[in-house]
Amino acid sequence: MKIAIASDHAGVQYKTAIIEFLSKQGHEVKNFGTDTEASCDYADFAHPLASSVENGQTEFGILICGTANGMLMTANKHKGIRAGLAWNEEIAGIVRAHNNANILGIPARFVGLDLAMAMIVKFMNTEFEGGRHENRIKKIPC
Ligand code: RB5
Repeated sequence: MKIAIASDHAGVQYKTAIIEFLSKQGHEVKNFGTDTEASCDYADFAHPLASSVENGQTEFGILICGTANGMLMTANKHKGIRAGLAWNEEIAGIVRAHNNANILGIPARFVGLDLAMAMIVKFMNTEFEGGRHENRIKKIPC
């Protein structure tokens, strides 16, 4: 799969490990930065990632910051984006199955790296259920 990933300084260590993990599985991972632990502004990285998912250059995105909130708030400003937060595997599945999320947000300061990777695997292997959820997600854009 073509996967987009970005973080701020709070998520850069997780991002590096996740890129290696996904690349080893044969996925094509496009890194939108940041690539240092120098303090930075999450929106500078979330916007380009969201654009790439929105225009189909990548199939889905992973956004990582301390809480994931700043990244997700930014990405959700894009009309074609449904960016959702997860902090356990079950929620990572539900955000795909019910919300058809095309971006997964990982709060690096609140989940371990192994759990972050397990959430990504769950997200990637869960299909949108459609049906009543289709009607609901159609009402999200404004
Ligand atoms: C950085 O200190 C922190 O504010 C950021 O990673 C994130 O949690 C913002 O939403």
